[in-house]
Amino acid sequence: MAVPVILDVDTGVDDALALLFAVAHPELELLAVSCVAGNAALEQVVDNTLRILDVAGAPDVPVAAGAVRPLLEPARSASHVHGADGLGGLVLPATSRRPVDESAVELLRRTILAHPVPVTLVALAPQTNLALLLRTHPEVAGNLERIVFMGGSASVGNATAVAEFNVWHDPEAAAIVLDAGVPCYMYGLDVFNRVAVPHERALELEQGEHRAGRIVGALLGHRVALSEDDHAEYTGLIGDAGAVCSIVAPELLRTERRPARVELAGYGRGQTLVDLRDRPGEDLLHGVADEWTPVEIALGVDADAVAALFLDTVVERLPA
Ligand code: RIB
Ligand code: CA
Repeated sequence: MAVPVILDVDTGVDDALALLFAVAHPELELLAVSCVAGNAALEQVVDNTLRILDVAGAPDVPVAAGAVRPLLEPARSASHVHGADGLGGLVLPATSRRPVDESAVELLRRTILAHPVPVTLVALAPQTNLALLLRTHPEVAGNLERIVFMGGSASVGNATAVAEFNVWHDPEAAAIVLDAGVPCYMYGLDVFNRVAVPHERALELEQGEHRAGRIVGALLGHRVALSEDDHAEYTGLIGDAGAVCSIVAPELLRTERRPARVELAGYGRGQTLVDLRDRPGEDLLHGVADEWTPVEIALGVDADAVAALFLDTVVERLPA
């Protein structure tokens, strides 16, 4: 039986790859998509999402608009990473579709509670929508299998030295989600930064006959220039798509269940603190340990196998 999933996205180049994979893989049933400001402004994220679902041959998946900015922070787009349009300049046909006439929170609430089996909620963006949902309708936790989120890091950051963009963008939201009592799986930068498609393969797709393959190749080929003098290297990272791959092929990742929390103050604001110790420390022995939440953390990955799973799925199963 296919895993029922809902994706929360800030489409973005790699969110687009994740959406294509989620539609294509036969072991996933994409119930709905909720949009949030992050990589781009909300209106752009919604339009990008609708266009990508049209490309994937999934025009019936409901899409809702959510938060226009984080709970506390101002919106800070990642246009330097994903381009002004959020898709790295990739021009897709305009969509004839509109988002549903309800908020992301309402679409999430209604879809989760109506599904006959527990739903897997996949967060690939700042977790503002999820925090609003869990604070407004905590009853949804009863029909959530788990939350799989692309975010955080047990090592280095990207938005800052220690914080990953999705968590850094809305740290309060991430803290609320972690503490909502729903089992969480963290697909952080420790594995996110390792799963890539070789350049020659991306070029082959981009120049090939397969329409979806051409779009995937173009998205993989988008280069990130963080400043005028930053030399934009090819990375080929599948990014968010790897988090969705982990649902259908968990055996390709090495995970550990570890205490974690989100830092909300100081220079480390937005950092996901992960306790990797193998023995208690003074904080635990003297009863001064703060509240930490056990989270399944992806710390290792068979990167080539995940990249192959992604490519094989989108090329073989999306409209040619
Ligand atoms: O840090 C990477 C994450 O931030 C990805 O989800 C990317 O799409 C951006 O949202
Ligand atoms: Ca994203």
